[in-house]
Amino acid sequence: MSKQILVDTIKQLFAGNKGLLAIDESNATCNKRFAVLGIPQTLEMRRKYRELLITTPGLNASVGGIILYDETIHQQTGKGIPFTDLLQDEGIIIGIKVDTGTKPLAGFHDEKITEGLDGLRDRLTAYKKLGVKFAKWRAVFSIGEARPSLGCIKANANALARYAALCQESGIVPVVEPEIVMAGKHSIERCYEVTEQVLKLLFQVLYDYKVDLEGMILKPNMVISGNDSAVQNTVEEVARATTQCLLSSVPASVPAIAFLSGGQSPEQASAHLKAIHTLFKNRLPWTVTFSFGRAIQQPALRVWQGQQANDTAAQVLLYRQASLDPTALQGAHDSKNQYALIQ
Ligand code: G3H
Repeated sequence: MSKQILVDTIKQLFAGNKGLLAIDESNATCNKRFAVLGIPQTLEMRRKYRELLITTPGLNASVGGIILYDETIHQQTGKGIPFTDLLQDEGIIIGIKVDTGTKPLAGFHDEKITEGLDGLRDRLTAYKKLGVKFAKWRAVFSIGEARPSLGCIKANANALARYAALCQESGIVPVVEPEIVMAGKHSIERCYEVTEQVLKLLFQVLYDYKVDLEGMILKPNMVISGNDSAVQNTVEEVARATTQCLLSSVPASVPAIAFLSGGQSPEQASAHLKAIHTLFKNRLPWTVTFSFGRAIQQPALRVWQGQQANDTAAQVLLYRQASLDPTALQGAHDSKNQYALIQ
């Protein structure tokens, strides 16, 4: 498969300071978020919600690609238009989550392995026929006294690398997501240490499996303390730790880094992204952008409540939140920005 296809897709995804919107929650995760708000956890409500997100007017100004879940990619609007047609008409590139979720890693207490490699080559071929140009696979690592273990990091890095190689073989850009989750009491320093260890080992394995680094996107966590940590760092500290950690572990040949939000509030995630650009723009060898799920969807979902009467209000919030993130990427160009003084 020609490398140029991968390179072109990546350029198109992020042209004009755009990023990615992740709406690829599994049914279980989507239902969990609905349950909190009393929204019925049915296939039809998930379809309605995804239709609302995808049909938000003007979304294509800030979002270059949307990551879908398998259920969603086969769905249509209430008027019978396939979601895939709708996205293509709006110039939004179609992405798909291809891992099948996590399972306990046998022999390792409290650690997970992401599954989904069986039959992946055939699934990628089928997705390609639906217009898919990029895919996502998420490995998850939690921080504890002896976690993540080397065994868990290696097992997940191997799976990520095999997935990425299969995607590239099909001409689909792999989004490689090794997420260090925020749950826990750990410090920002510990998050830095673990993120760096995971990324360094991951890139060694990607190299071993002949993944072309110029034809992939990295989707990492930001370097931040656990959400139960007594110390919560400043925006500048998070931006600095995140940038330093990525500079020390991600090769410059990777064209783009698109952050997950990982449970940060929409405001936090945007502020951190903006500070990374404002403080460190000149040091970043990659395109640095967003691939947020909750940090874009949260305000819209809260307002929607599963009621059609709230559709427009929810779309307005989705549009606003998605628009803030490309603005964050321009932070460095705003001379009045508070962070400009800190450099
Ligand atoms: O895999 C995670 C999603 O693609 C991004 O979700 O921004 O809510 O962490 P998040």
